[in-house]
Amino acid sequence: MAIYLGFFGLKKNPFGATPDPEFLYLSHAHREALAQLTYAVQERKGFILLTAEVGTGKTTLLHTLRSQLDSNTAVAYVANSMLPFRGILEYMLEEFEIAKPGETAAQQLVTLQTFLVERHRVGQSTVLILDEAQNFYPQTLEQIRLLSNFETTKEKILQILLVGQPELRARLEMPDLRQLSQRIGLRCSIPPLSPIGTRNYIRTRLRIAGARDSLIFTDRALARIAEYASGIPRIINTVCDHCLLIGYADQTRRIDREIVDEAITYLEDGLRPRRRARVAARRSRNTPLEIVDEAVTHLEDGLHPRRPAKVAARRSRNRPLWWGLVGTGAGLMAGTIGLVAFQPDALWQAYDASAALLSDLVHSARTLLGR
Ligand SMILES: Nc1ncnc2c1ncn2[C@@H]1O[C@H](COP(=O)(O)OP(=O)(O)OP(=O)(O)O)[C@@H](O)[C@H]1O
Ligand SMILES: [Mg+2]
Repeated sequence: MAIYLGFFGLKKNPFGATPDPEFLYLSHAHREALAQLTYAVQERKGFILLTAEVGTGKTTLLHTLRSQLDSNTAVAYVANSMLPFRGILEYMLEEFEIAKPGETAAQQLVTLQTFLVERHRVGQSTVLILDEAQNFYPQTLEQIRLLSNFETTKEKILQILLVGQPELRARLEMPDLRQLSQRIGLRCSIPPLSPIGTRNYIRTRLRIAGARDSLIFTDRALARIAEYASGIPRIINTVCDHCLLIGYADQTRRIDREIVDEAITYLEDGLRPRRRARVAARRSRNTPLEIVDEAVTHLEDGLHPRRPAKVAARRSRNRPLWWGLVGTGAGLMAGTIGLVAFQPDALWQAYDASAALLSDLVHSARTLLGR
């Protein structure tokens, strides 16, 4: 569970890494791909090919397809492309809950055929989905082709969805796999999201996660994410998740372009970059005690002050400095109380002077640290 949920008023993690159909966003292209797949299954096209770049949402779309197919359709979903053909066969029989499928490959194939013929006879459909199919050995793909020989004189009785990254298309062009390639009844793809699609995608996921404010990301931030992620949902999710984390650490509920840049640097270098003017500006609005606290943290070694364990450890090594600053603060407070008692009118002048003093202190600390 992401730690920033409460801070942004979210009920669920909006940018999780799993292909959760609850967070589905259907662009025009997604709708089209989904409609094509549904049509191909219903029309018993036999082999169906879905290819798209890494992280564009193939698996998410498959889960959606499965949830939309009616109860007359049995689906076996194989996501382990390291399985040899025999493993795929056994996995299918298991998924179709076929009891006593036999010991040998031949027996298992006969059992499967009987099962498919019987389902077809009563008007039911059967689908085999092979996800990550770009990793199958050519030999395995060739054996899978033989499954499409299960057919009546009129139609295929097993629909096979081959799903994978673009190299799957290239692989099917190899001379050895010509026969399989020729049998593909429908080919479809999912393009990356457009910049507008990226914006709608992010807002949709935030809304589903329970955000009341769908404008957490500014327009410039969204444009920067679209540019960086090139419309790939998995990259969008990762960047957005980092942005919310940084927003939480900085206690800001508005994610601007600068935070997106920080998140990208963080993702690429694994380090949080030096904090910039934005944070400095916000610090100037902090209370004097917070300024002292932050100054101490920075004097220690420039760590972000909201990392309690590390900061506590470093503070114990810098007690004299800490107590010096606390003493200064206490002196200022005593002076303030004196002024309240004897010269109330001078109070605000003294407050201004002490704030300026503390501000100078922080400035000197930052200068010392080169920030
Ligand atoms: N249309 C979409 N709606 C909502 N979230 C999506 C959509 N498409 C992709 N995602 C999200 O993007 C991430 C990657 O999606 P998914 O795993 O489906 O991609 P993939 O194309 O199967 O990736 P790979 O090539 O690695 O198998 C997931 O977190 C998923 O939730
Ligand atoms: Mg996938």
